[in-house]
Amino acid sequence: MYRRQFLGSAAAVGLLPGVGLARTAPQVLRAAPHRQQILPAEYPDTELWSFDATFPGRILRATQGDRVSIEVENQLPQATAVHWHGLRLDNAMDGVPGLTQAPIAPGDRFAYEFTLPDAGTYWYHSHAQSMEQVERGLYGPLIIDETEPPDVDQDLVLVLDDIRLERDGSVSGFDNFHDLSHAGRIGNLWLSNGQIDPGYPVKRGERLRLRLISAANARVFTLGLQGFEGWVVALDGMPLAAPEPLGEELTLAPAQRMDLIVDVTTDDEEAFLITFERDGGYAITHFPVGGPSRARRDAPSALPPNPEFPIDLANARTATLLVEGGAMGGMRAAEVDGERLVARELAGRGLFWALNGIAGRPETPLLDLSRGESVRVGMANDTAFPHAMHLHGMHFAEVLPDGSLGPLRDTILLNPQETREIAFQAHNPGNWLFHCHMLAHHQAGMGTWIRVSA
Ligand code: C2O
Ligand code: CU
Repeated sequence: MYRRQFLGSAAAVGLLPGVGLARTAPQVLRAAPHRQQILPAEYPDTELWSFDATFPGRILRATQGDRVSIEVENQLPQATAVHWHGLRLDNAMDGVPGLTQAPIAPGDRFAYEFTLPDAGTYWYHSHAQSMEQVERGLYGPLIIDETEPPDVDQDLVLVLDDIRLERDGSVSGFDNFHDLSHAGRIGNLWLSNGQIDPGYPVKRGERLRLRLISAANARVFTLGLQGFEGWVVALDGMPLAAPEPLGEELTLAPAQRMDLIVDVTTDDEEAFLITFERDGGYAITHFPVGGPSRARRDAPSALPPNPEFPIDLANARTATLLVEGGAMGGMRAAEVDGERLVARELAGRGLFWALNGIAGRPETPLLDLSRGESVRVGMANDTAFPHAMHLHGMHFAEVLPDGSLGPLRDTILLNPQETREIAFQAHNPGNWLFHCHMLAHHQAGMGTWIRVSA
């Protein structure tokens, strides 16, 4: 049914270290190179770039409504900036170099300070040269607790990634034109919390909250749980109106999150989180089962809703977004900084994708909205690859074929040749990036932005 990635791999058992974000004292988050054993012990270790010398970065944890200060210190050989993915925060704190702040130069610091309006599962990551910086390890979970969290025995954060490592343990090859023009940087090793198939002990009958976060550069995970029964309770941090029973497969695109509440129901000695690949399922995390523990029979209730910003579909402005480019895509030309370039010239600048005929972040926004206005954006993927479109600063809902609204999300998967429409209320003023979270695609041109005036 599934297999291990390495026979006899020495996967360490352990939880991610966490740190509570204090209301007053600023936390310092230091971005710097550090070495960690990723491959099994008989292979060399890996030089990563990480926050506070842990990979993934430690769990930053606070309670809904808190105000937090985090000072990022850059000890990397490149400029950086940190984005707090999925938070509906002040625009100036959004961490996008060239749009919301100047990049943090090597040796410099930047003080982020913001209020946390929403509870849920979020993450933080570098937003500078992110295809390289996120791949090298600059990411971590950001967990905002409800003031009254649901009743579970364990709250477990699983940050999933697929890293591409060489046999000597190194992370390299960031100027690969194949990655830029095809699916993106797909890895060769699945990691859960930075480890190959780590084990988290559970008890039979126990109820867990599993917070799945995809930090993958480009891979769309198809996941399965074996040994559990349960519900999906939140997507991209936002609670579902009603818990939804788990299906056979869960799709998790880059940057997406999924909160599950599951009961350990197996009679076996291990339960699994599996990634389904072309050649079968692989254990990405296993759970040694002990116990028994007190079992619950009741379904969980919905998580308390976050503040709502209703979408007025009937009076919404409309826009369209045409996604073009990539290998086998047939894009002939696109505009860059107001200049029209043919495909060969675009490739010469490392650009392979365009949104509405423009490659790279345009000078003028896709939409200029007033605060409180509703908008619908129809997106058409005229390429041979999937894209995970992410809007900063506000969550959107999908407008479903029957005209109803789907759950709130901040990242939506657009499969090849697919058309989808999203809608949101422009409630958060500022300049917000709207881009593909396949990080190679973003680097190679797939990003625009939206302005919301106060
Ligand atoms: Cu997760 Cu523009 O970012
Ligand atoms: Cu893309």
